[in-house]
Amino acid sequence: MILKDKRKLEVSYVPEKTPCREEEKKRLSLLLENGRAVISGEVGTGKTLLAKHTGGDVYVNCYTNRSEHKVLEEILHQIRPNFSTAGLTSQRLWKEIKGDHLIILDEFDGMDSKDITHFAYTISRQAEMGEGIKYVAVTRSALMLEQIIHDPAAWSTFAEKAVIELRPYTRKQMIEILEYRAGESLMDGSYEEVLPLIADIALVSAGHMRSAIDLLRTSAMIADRKGHEKIFPEDVREANQESWFEGIGEMEKGHAIALLAVASLCVNRAYASMDDIMAEYKSKCEEYGIDIKEKEMEKNIQFLLNQGFIYESSDGYTIIDCPAELLAKEIEKFLNR
Ligand SMILES: Nc1ncnc2c1ncn2[C@@H]1O[C@H](COP(=O)(O)OP(=O)(O)OP(=O)(O)O)[C@@H](O)[C@H]1O
Ligand SMILES: [Mg+2]
Repeated sequence: MILKDKRKLEVSYVPEKTPCREEEKKRLSLLLENGRAVISGEVGTGKTLLAKHTGGDVYVNCYTNRSEHKVLEEILHQIRPNFSTAGLTSQRLWKEIKGDHLIILDEFDGMDSKDITHFAYTISRQAEMGEGIKYVAVTRSALMLEQIIHDPAAWSTFAEKAVIELRPYTRKQMIEILEYRAGESLMDGSYEEVLPLIADIALVSAGHMRSAIDLLRTSAMIADRKGHEKIFPEDVREANQESWFEGIGEMEKGHAIALLAVASLCVNRAYASMDDIMAEYKSKCEEYGIDIKEKEMEKNIQFLLNQGFIYESSDGYTIIDCPAELLAKEIEKFLNR
């Protein structure tokens, strides 16, 4: 058994700690003493997580509740569950929002562009007038948000000197965060080895940390289902498998054998060194009766890297798109045709 608590890897779960974001968290709570903050950062940089860590009592996703009216209704449903908003105008709804509240406005840039300026201006005025309303708004990019709001006065009361920029996590940070998240959810000894591979795969995907957590959960489930006592690199590759290498049938023989060498090595490890690859490559050439020069071999490996068939990281070379064993079998079939 590998999964200790699967719930802790689910999207809705909010972990207690936020490693690698301690500085940003401190700044956030400092800013919120003045009642407003804007968290800006690319996909999967921990924006929603940090926003939820502020202790806000109201959470609204402005992408799913696009209009000002919808957002106001949602806020009121949460702070005054018995209040009926039916038939009331936005102007009226604003008047009903009072008391001490910290409102999380997630995906704020997803609000309708015809409403966003008015909303931003009004909520920041509300905060200024000491109504007890505080807010933390989340955006993919503060620069883009400023352009959408398109009104210097509204922007300045809403966000000036209140923006916290979350930089994308580095490989090292991703591994540290994965260690924490896996420690909470998986059995000791079942995941340590594959975390760098998961981080490497997540780094080339668009969702970064989000992809990393998804991949950790899926590989743990795959390994569990297979009855493994731990997650193997092949389980991670299977979890990441999306498309099939359609190009194999059209590959040059030299390229195919080079790829076969890397794949064979990766069957039981996360990464292979260049020395090992070259040695394996030579032995595969002998096996298939191919005479090849070292220079050419290096060129072929470079080709595979450029084409994304193999992936290079600080730990060595690896396959990330599908289980290495499957790939090796497929190439062997092609070479033996
Ligand atoms: N520092 C961290 N510690 C622990 N888990 C983290 C950390 N940063 C991100 N995560 C996890 O990574 C995933 C993505 O984070 P989050 O949803 O906060 O990103 P986001 O910036 O809001 O992304 P998006 O732009 O797609 O909304 C979540 O599962 C979150 O719990
Ligand atoms: Mg988010």
